[in-house]
Amino acid sequence: MPLIALCAGDGIGPEVAAEAVRVLKAIDSKYRIGFSFEDAPVGGGAYDKFGTPLPDKSLDTAKRADAVFLGAVGGPKWEKLDYSVRPERGLLGLRSGLDLYANIRPAKMFAPLVAASTLKREVVEGIDLVVVRELTGDIYFGKPRGVEKYAGGKRGVNTMVYTTPEIERIARIAFELARKRRKKVCSVDKANVLETTELWREVVTQTHGAYPDVDLSHMYVDNAAMQLVRNPRQFDVMLTPNLFGDILSDEASMLTGSIGMLPSASLNGTKGMYEPIHGSAPDIAGKGIANPIASVLSVAMMLEYTFGNSPAARDVERAVANVLEKGFRTADIFSEGTAKVSTTRMGDLILKELA
Ligand code: IPM
Ligand code: MG
Repeated sequence: MPLIALCAGDGIGPEVAAEAVRVLKAIDSKYRIGFSFEDAPVGGGAYDKFGTPLPDKSLDTAKRADAVFLGAVGGPKWEKLDYSVRPERGLLGLRSGLDLYANIRPAKMFAPLVAASTLKREVVEGIDLVVVRELTGDIYFGKPRGVEKYAGGKRGVNTMVYTTPEIERIARIAFELARKRRKKVCSVDKANVLETTELWREVVTQTHGAYPDVDLSHMYVDNAAMQLVRNPRQFDVMLTPNLFGDILSDEASMLTGSIGMLPSASLNGTKGMYEPIHGSAPDIAGKGIANPIASVLSVAMMLEYTFGNSPAARDVERAVANVLEKGFRTADIFSEGTAKVSTTRMGDLILKELA
């Protein structure tokens, strides 16, 4: 029986996770899969209860599970805590503990949402790109790190580091994915300044040798940030190191109308953790107005990548598209002439389309 670990998390995390679970249960009975679920507390809530943002038991559950669903972690309540026990450490601990090195973040424009974008229609119409972000290396995990005293005051250090095998395995993921799409990979680096990313460019180029059918280009990260708002349709697969991918994927998400729309998968083979790319949004937590679509689309990615069930995945995506087509919107994607609905009502509408 396939096991799904549920990490609802903090802020709006539990609200959007609840809608994801409803969709999973609906798919479960429709396709007769037999999912079972186990809660795995992580983040600030877990810290309050267990004194750590990633209790051993939660990590064990995640390791045993076929897939992990995560809502969101963090909030102002925990911002003063030491780095080692911040809610974000729970998320990063899951990523590294499960060796989920490949983060897939698709940014696809739903036609009815073109008006919700802050950019002009002619720029954003038809966007369909994927950020493939390396997730377990780079400055996020590099050592030495920390803040120390020195004669002149304090000194903060973080280390950007990549090894050849780390770069090679993520590059392969990007090339493989491109083969199923428009066969274009744009690798992002800062090779004009940073040696680590000079190595990145070198290894990506070497790895490309085995994928002659895929078109490879390289772009400096500053230019990539600019090109994303200038002409986002030029991109198919964007391959990025961890930190650059964190930044560029937020930018890419906004092109499609709202960060509340974008799902993600963090993979190692078919093992995966699935989460909306948005955060815990403490400002709207508890109000029942959060957009659950990123979570629901993360469920579609889970069905696709972990369970290899493309029909079910397409079913979920179609349900979301239909609801948008009919003019229903949560507050973040609302525009004149559409119907504003709550988190749970959006969930109801998606379930109705699935039935
Ligand atoms: C993301 C988030 C995380 C990251 C935070 C919450 C640690 O911004 O998933 O993009 O920086 O990776
Ligand atoms: Mg981020």
